[in-house]
Amino acid sequence: MKVHIEGFDDVLGGGLPINTVNMITGTTGSMKSSVSFNIAFNEVKKNKKIALYISLEETYESLMAQMRSLQYDLNSIDIGRVGYDLATLRKNKNKLLKDPKKKGGLIISDLGQVRKEMVGKDLSPNENWFFLTKAIIKEIKESIGLDIVVLDSLTALHVLSSLENPRVKLFYFFEFLRDLEVTSFLLSEMPHDESKLSTYEEEPYLCDSLIKLTVSNRHRKVSREIAMVKARATNASLDVFTLDFKDGKFKALYGGQVPLV
Ligand SMILES: Nc1ncnc2c1ncn2[C@@H]1O[C@H](COP(=O)(O)OP(=O)(O)OP(=O)(O)O)[C@@H](O)[C@H]1O
Ligand SMILES: [Mg+2]
Repeated sequence: MKVHIEGFDDVLGGGLPINTVNMITGTTGSMKSSVSFNIAFNEVKKNKKIALYISLEETYESLMAQMRSLQYDLNSIDIGRVGYDLATLRKNKNKLLKDPKKKGGLIISDLGQVRKEMVGKDLSPNENWFFLTKAIIKEIKESIGLDIVVLDSLTALHVLSSLENPRVKLFYFFEFLRDLEVTSFLLSEMPHDESKLSTYEEEPYLCDSLIKLTVSNRHRKVSREIAMVKARATNASLDVFTLDFKDGKFKALYGGQVPLV
């Protein structure tokens, strides 16, 4: 599956293997959400895939406003919105996307919708968040079909779930995603000092690939960087590239140029 970043897909030998669990880790504002949305958007638009974007940090409105500001033509793909209520999803599954089998579509499950559904219910951190996240992914896969899952973010899911035995649950979560045959992108917040790649040290070992995004200030200019830290089953270059976003497109640059592979 292409990551839809010019230059970077070539570095990956065409893209990432499908049905793998991939992590996108980065510091605040390093464009984790935008890079992941870009993959889902392009796969729906160009390859008619069905993607689920779980936004646990931002509401639907805030995510859409950001993507509109990056000039994605949101009217060019079919977008549906769900919360975490399985009964509602089962009832509305045929109305969520217009023609998912032929045209694909993007399903967004966001915190705003979840909050609306759960008025008066307990929203404090508990393990239900974790189980509901798994349940919603499974339900969409089985009832509508699903090719891509973006979890924005695994860090937020950790906070909301405050799991007992998180390491064990995490192991089975990665296995669950792999068994489901979806290509998943788990977003993770990295501290600015880059002292660790993710919340738990196991996550980088459990995933099939790990993309790291960073922001640095150089000569009063913000520069963004992208690097593949790990890529199972590809012979990807582990060089660090400059990440550029212009005219609605991401590019990875090496020495100011799109790398020639
Ligand atoms: N054309 C652009 N080029 C570069 N950066 C941009 C552009 N448009 C917006 N941005 C910046 O991208 C940042 C937001 O990106 P995004 O929300 O994808 O990052 P994130 O890593 O998900 O952030 P967070 O840590 O808040 O989740 C904003 O700071 C915004 O100013
Ligand atoms: Mg984000």
